[in-house]
Amino acid sequence: MNNVQMYPLAMRVMHWLMAALILSLLFVGLSMVTSLGAWQYTLLNWHKTAGLIAALALIVRLGIRLMSTKPALPSSMPKLQYYAAKLTHWAFYLLLGCMPLTGYLMQNAAGRPVMLFGQALPQLISTDLAWYGLFRELHAWLSVLLMALIILHITAALYHGLIKRDGVLKSMLK
Ligand code: HEM
Repeated sequence: MNNVQMYPLAMRVMHWLMAALILSLLFVGLSMVTSLGAWQYTLLNWHKTAGLIAALALIVRLGIRLMSTKPALPSSMPKLQYYAAKLTHWAFYLLLGCMPLTGYLMQNAAGRPVMLFGQALPQLISTDLAWYGLFRELHAWLSVLLMALIILHITAALYHGLIKRDGVLKSMLK
């Protein structure tokens, strides 16, 4: 327990920047796999670069989180809800790590170089059609899980902000 009321500024900035980036990645990802338009290739290149930036942002965010004191959850919160909140937060970090990883490995297995700012990144696995299929499926299924988690997270945030009014939502705003 501590008396901190708000998340530190660095954590709030990372939270909202990453929220915008991840929602754009999901939106662009779904748009590009459901279209044959000429713009699909441009979107795919944007998606890969932005996905790698999201992976770097996750590392920075975890570093900031480990160095910061964040507000404790309200003591009035039922134990089950408390553990559900903790589980959701760690599931987010896990999924946000697995999404870029499966995307990266999918491209490696397809034999397509992964570029970041003009530099080819290392090939971690060799070209293999079966692995390509597996990582492609995983990437798609994990994105569904991520979307479900985001909906749960927004619902919980609104419940705290509009119904409980216990300061949990406020601690991540401003
Ligand atoms: C947090 C990061 C990422 C998110 C949230 C994300 C999300 C998505 C989503 C929602 C799709 C559509 C899946 C489907 O329904 O089939 C997709 C497809 C794709 N993503 Fe990502 N992605 C991320 C990172 C990456 C990275 C780092 C790469 C590669 C370097 C990548 C490469 C791809 C490719 C190639 C597809 C198209 C797959 C296909 O042809 O079916 N993604 N992504």
